[in-house]
Amino acid sequence: MSRYREVYARWKSNPEGFWADAARDIDWIKPASRVFAPDEGVYGRWFSGATCNTAWNCLDRHVVAGHGDRTALIYDSPVTGTKARYSYAELLARVEAIAAVLKDEGVKKGDRVIVYMPMIPESVMAMLACARIGAIHSVVFGGFASRELATRIEDAKPTAVIAASCGIEPNRIIAYKPLLDEAIGFSAHKPDKVLVFQRPQVTAALQPGRDVDLGAAADAAAGRHVPCEEVAATDPAYILYTSGTTGQPKGVFRDTGGHMVALRWSMSAIYDIKPGEVFWAASDVGWVVGHSYIVYAPLLIGATTVVYEGKPVGTPDAGAFWRMVEEYRIAALFTAPTAFRAIKKEDPNGTFLAKYDRSSLRTLFLAGERADPDTVKWAEEKLGVPVVDHWWQTETGWAIAGNPVGLGLLPIKHGSPTVPMPGYDVQVLDDAGHPVPNGKLGNIVVKLPLPPSCLPTLWNADDRFRKAYLEEFPGYYKTADAGMMDDDGYLFIMSRTDDIINVAGHRLSTGAMEEVLASHPDVAECAVIGVVDALKGQAPCGFVVLKAGVTKEAAAIEKELVTLVRDKIGPVAAFKTAVVVDRLPKTRSGKILRGTMRQIADGEDFRMPATIDDPSILDEIRTAVTGRVVG
Ligand code: COA
Ligand code: AMP
Repeated sequence: MSRYREVYARWKSNPEGFWADAARDIDWIKPASRVFAPDEGVYGRWFSGATCNTAWNCLDRHVVAGHGDRTALIYDSPVTGTKARYSYAELLARVEAIAAVLKDEGVKKGDRVIVYMPMIPESVMAMLACARIGAIHSVVFGGFASRELATRIEDAKPTAVIAASCGIEPNRIIAYKPLLDEAIGFSAHKPDKVLVFQRPQVTAALQPGRDVDLGAAADAAAGRHVPCEEVAATDPAYILYTSGTTGQPKGVFRDTGGHMVALRWSMSAIYDIKPGEVFWAASDVGWVVGHSYIVYAPLLIGATTVVYEGKPVGTPDAGAFWRMVEEYRIAALFTAPTAFRAIKKEDPNGTFLAKYDRSSLRTLFLAGERADPDTVKWAEEKLGVPVVDHWWQTETGWAIAGNPVGLGLLPIKHGSPTVPMPGYDVQVLDDAGHPVPNGKLGNIVVKLPLPPSCLPTLWNADDRFRKAYLEEFPGYYKTADAGMMDDDGYLFIMSRTDDIINVAGHRLSTGAMEEVLASHPDVAECAVIGVVDALKGQAPCGFVVLKAGVTKEAAAIEKELVTLVRDKIGPVAAFKTAVVVDRLPKTRSGKILRGTMRQIADGEDFRMPATIDDPSILDEIRTAVTGRVVG
């Protein structure tokens, strides 16, 4: 019998009492004077008046409690053939050494530090070192190009950047330093210091005066004790940029105190993980899943986390995940459905699964995109453990809806991430803000205030925060997801209501891609849509109309456009298809009919929009995409 309904009701009747109880699992330097302060910030702040330190709670407290020998972090890198383990005491020592280097290089409490790193233990250490000295890290995913990195440098205005000399993809080595130098060149803001972790595969050239060899400096600082900085619970833990509707990403940040409280609670209640158990989030530290469930949450509870530098397939085969489960006795695995689609495609009969001992695995958690029922069923059948979908966003940092395994598993309904978590009063509203009946599609919103860990606002952008999230449905946070609730209170998340698309669990802005296409000298206008992709869920597809008088071949321009998006946004955009068309379908008021284009590209039946200016354009679009778009 699940305790979920009782726990949710307890939260609803006394939210402050609920979070005050949860806060007891965190070490505070000074307790909160008010658990929730409705008059602070844009919609209120959690744990006002409290002070704390995240690195203390992730590391020192476990060592002080006598668990220094317990494994904190496992590193497994099939792309380099490297494996390593760090105990809590060892991880603490490495973090202190990096913290010492940061301090020596002039980084102070409140300063921002951009972290541009691949999946190596030093990335986790760098993040925790920032937390230790009260600096605010902003991790940039390695698959982003230098312009994206530049945008983040310009917005966060970091004192220092921490980077590795390279990232390693199965098919190539990516030298990070040239990308970083280019990004710093693009940015009006210049960091004072660049700390480079030299990997054996690539040695980056260092600029005298500005650049520091981080590995060597940290080795020299080994053994130094750097005390944890006392920060306010309402000081930012970190900034993580995520795709918005334009090329300007949104700087999501969260409060230090609330972040710890919610994540710590989730590890027990949602993931059912106990200290000493191995929890593996197969994501990347550059994404929110990586921040919350590779770095912070597992360490907050004293579990073992896993840093895996590889892919679900091809490194070396579709048995990679099961080899990991056997080798490290992994209790719970968290990944995106796309990873399972990749495994299923390579190994539909689960031949690799049979080769490994998976008896330690209790649960598979999926998030990052809609978990399609076929994939969920396949995983359930092959693994024989509960497959738990849960829904969340970079903005929240933890699940809005899920199936709280630690409170007792609720019946699973395929296609649903189950029920709202305590802290979230989730409602479904029509466009005018009225509640829609159960079973009907609408805008999914969360009644304010949002719970601890959710963004209190955007970094240096209160107005943008209000406009993007709070204005459309007064009193509510707009998730920009559409879906419905059934009579049992289960949520179904169907699609985004904005122009965000989800490619292999990566959140991307079609608006940002349109800005890139529009910058091509031959392009008059364009539209980017997400079309159905069997592996990645969605794939971007661009339609462009050329300027009058352009004589260059359409195929050549299409190729240039694909390269342009890769260069300006990055390979992670997976932008592979640009189609030159004569015209774009529009309404009589000039609005591009992106939804109809998407339906045509996906081969879906569609109703002719009543407001369309010229219906014959749709036939042109159909002809243009036939045989071009995967769908
Ligand atoms: N640095 C540089 N390039 C990167 C990168 C990084 N950190 N991560 C990805 N890329 C590149 C890839 O090499 C690829 O480049 P290519 O076009 O030259 O092949 C491109 O970005 C797209 O990468 P990806 O989305 O990973 O696609 P893929 O085809 O290489 O692999 C999957 C497909 C399904 C195996 C892969 O997406 C995956 O493992 N997904 C798991 C989901 C996940 O981690 N989601 C995060 C949120 S939970
Ligand atoms: P991100 O901010 O990258 O985590 O992306 C958040 C978005 O991914 C959400 O707003 C949803 O559109 C989508 N998403 C994440 N998890 C799920 C899920 N379990 N089911 C459906 N959509 C999801």
